[in-house]
Amino acid sequence: MEVTFVCLGNICRSPMAELIFKDMVEREGLSSRFNITSYGTSDWEEGNPIYPPAAKTLAEHGIHGTHIARQLSLRDVINNDYILVMDSQNLMDVLRLTGGKFGQKIFKLCSFTSNPRDIADPWYTRDFEGAYWDIVDGCRSFLNYLLRRV
Ligand code: 4NP
Repeated sequence: MEVTFVCLGNICRSPMAELIFKDMVEREGLSSRFNITSYGTSDWEEGNPIYPPAAKTLAEHGIHGTHIARQLSLRDVINNDYILVMDSQNLMDVLRLTGGKFGQKIFKLCSFTSNPRDIADPWYTRDFEGAYWDIVDGCRSFLNYLLRRV
């Protein structure tokens, strides 16, 4: 199962989601079943590491890892089974990239939760802890969705 998380810059929300989801599937003993990555819709942060306040929030919750920001391409959409975006703007940007195609595998991460919502961008809100818990809720709900399907 190829799963990729997508946000705007690929230095805050989507690398947080990548590392949180990797940790979750590892705890479930399912790591060998997944290839988990992340991308940004923009090239603004290309080559940059995880934004330090995002990495600090992850570390406070015992989640460690690195990522280098990169921009999503059409090939990445084609090669993944699930493209999980953080907000409505990301969804529109990915659908613009695909010319409206592949909509059946592009979802807002929190659409799998009991409270579908956007994950606010902590780059602007500065609420990294809030983003962390929204992402945990989304990842847990997405994994439960997958487990119900197999
Ligand atoms: P992200 O946050 O999409 O969660 O990675 C952002 C990071 C950087 C910028 C915007 C959003 N930026 O404008 O550089």
